Amino acid sequence: MKSSTKINPKQAAGELAAQLVKNNMVAGLGTGSTTAYAIKELGKRVASGLKILGVPTSYQSAFLAAENGIQLTTLDEHPVPDIAIDGADQVANFAAIKGGGAAHTREKIVAQSAKKFVVVADESKVAEVLNHPVPLEVLPFARKLVAKQVAELGGKAVVRMGINKDGPVISDNGNFILDADFGEIKDPESLDKELSQCTGIVEHGIFTKVDVVYIGKKDGSVEIMES
Ligand code: 5RP
Repeated sequence: MKSSTKINPKQAAGELAAQLVKNNMVAGLGTGSTTAYAIKELGKRVASGLKILGVPTSYQSAFLAAENGIQLTTLDEHPVPDIAIDGADQVANFAAIKGGGAAHTREKIVAQSAKKFVVVADESKVAEVLNHPVPLEVLPFARKLVAKQVAELGGKAVVRMGINKDGPVISDNGNFILDADFGEIKDPESLDKELSQCTGIVEHGIFTKVDVVYIGKKDGSVEIMES
């Protein structure tokens, strides 16, 4: 019988990025399975004496941080976290698409508030050019109008439906999520600006200001890229 010591690339990236958090820092805690490894690693370090405060980006990260002994705070109390660590659905040239977990609005607020924004992902998320559908958090009242505006920008938006929940996904903020397919996104900055101008979109999942990327590889190594 072979014993498996396979290293999970998401775990490798998440755990290594957690080492960027130093004593007395305030850290933005992203959402998703890769960041979960970072949060659990931070929990272990807290148990060994590290003193930090975490700003959660979702109920998921708040629950996980609390379970792992990480004291939570808010942006009201700590408006400029030292660092934010978060996952991505796709990353290319220090731009990312996020929102696979419907948490991108708070994730973007925390990422933009922080001094440094670190993306953690496995190598399957890396692309030459972004082409993943862009999650849009949308006021339910504006669903049809947003779909029309997305079509005018050359995209096609569909309402994300729940799994183990009938009907649409509802975000932590009480809104719908539309996934908007634009094909290849050659100019993420332009699409960022155009989507930010659409009436009814609370926030979209294009992140154009990534400072550091940790990419976990199948062999257990982690590639670190700094902008
Ligand atoms: C949640 C996100 C996640 O960070 C993104 O979906 C990546 O998730 P995972 O690390 O599970 O692959 O943006 O809204």
